[in-house]
Amino acid sequence: MTILVTGSAGFIGANFVLDWLQRHDEKVVSLDKLTYAGNLRNLESVKDDARHRFVRGDIGDNPLVADLLKEHRPRAVLNFAAESHVDRSIDGPEDFIQTNIVGTFRLLEAVRAYWNPLAEEERRNFRFLHVSTDEVYGSLTPAAPAFCETHRYQPNSPYSASKAASDHLVRAYHHTYGLPVLTTHCSNNYGPYHFPEKLIPLVINNALLGKPLPVYGDGQQIRDWLYVGDHCGAIRRVLEAGRPGETYNIGGNNEKTNVDVVHAICGMLDELRPRPDGKGYRDQIAFIKDRPGHDRRYAIDASRIQRELDWKPRETFDSGIAKTVRWYLDNQAWVQSVTSGAYRDWMDRQYRE
Ligand code: NAD
Ligand code: DAU
Repeated sequence: MTILVTGSAGFIGANFVLDWLQRHDEKVVSLDKLTYAGNLRNLESVKDDARHRFVRGDIGDNPLVADLLKEHRPRAVLNFAAESHVDRSIDGPEDFIQTNIVGTFRLLEAVRAYWNPLAEEERRNFRFLHVSTDEVYGSLTPAAPAFCETHRYQPNSPYSASKAASDHLVRAYHHTYGLPVLTTHCSNNYGPYHFPEKLIPLVINNALLGKPLPVYGDGQQIRDWLYVGDHCGAIRRVLEAGRPGETYNIGGNNEKTNVDVVHAICGMLDELRPRPDGKGYRDQIAFIKDRPGHDRRYAIDASRIQRELDWKPRETFDSGIAKTVRWYLDNQAWVQSVTSGAYRDWMDRQYRE
């Protein structure tokens, strides 16, 4: 048996592939375009593993995907591939439309053509698992209940709008063609291999470099932090036992303001890697211009996946952030390898002021 994983050289995709190969003998074909966010170093440890085959390519390249499906005959396709950074989608939405909408559409078309003529049992057992986000639900007021699976879609950024569009396509392929799809909506992930454009790895990296720790606006925005290993476990469980056509929300039960997250990282670093001048890392915090259209609060109600699939997160924020900060301290060579010229151009543009 084989699964096809797209976006496998990115943060969550790579964690998923590494986790999968530690637990299963089932073969993984991984497909990634290797954009600025994709990094083969993330998959270095499985480079020579006979159960893993990496292919560089675009989910929107229909002939390539069709060939891969024909050659490897996977029992499931897991779609992690996406443009994923909200700030980049504000800076330039085009790539988000191309990959998240057009790319997902072409991938669905290739999968439909492969799945249609399969034998009855293979058709029934096949799964297309689409990894989406809580951001499609929009922003919550402080006292509002957390997002459940039936919450209305209200995407507010070009990124979340493009993910919402892809979710609708996935849903339509189930409703119209009967393709056995599963959609997951997770909250903010963090952990190893997180690209340092996102809040947590950016703050760790900037702190160690003695640079400002940029907090947008008043820093009181809330995210529900989910350790990436917990997310991988949830995806495995949905793949195994999720009901085709259903959606599952996955969250960490860890609502935190951005300022509290930054303070927690500073506290960890003060302990593990004190500044040479004896001062605290909190001195580096800089409140800067807010993100346009910044969503105030996300929170996930993960009761369905807990009730129906018996999944719940294992990590608390304290245990997850401790593992994460340690991983970054121990993997400085990885950080240096991903903070390439293109990364530095983005940082200069985004944080110029
Ligand atoms: P990431 O940006 O770290 O990785 C995305 C990967 O997709 C990269 O390896 C990139 O090279 C690849 N990719 C981009 N365009 C491609 C294309 N056209 N064809 C093939 N590969 C392509 O993103 P991530 O944080 O790992 O997120 C993975 C998925 O999870 C995304 O769909 C994202 O929307 C979703 N998600 C992420 C989070 C989070 O907190 N990181 C939360 C909710 C949902
Ligand atoms: O909620 C799920 C989403 O989480 C995913 O769908 C996205 O792919 C993922 O990137 C993430 O989006 P966010 O915008 O929430 O993550 P980010 O790490 O960019 O920002 C987290 C919070 O921190 C957000 O409120 C913006 C703020 N922030 C971010 C950066 C990069 C800052 O205050 N300063 C910064 O420099």
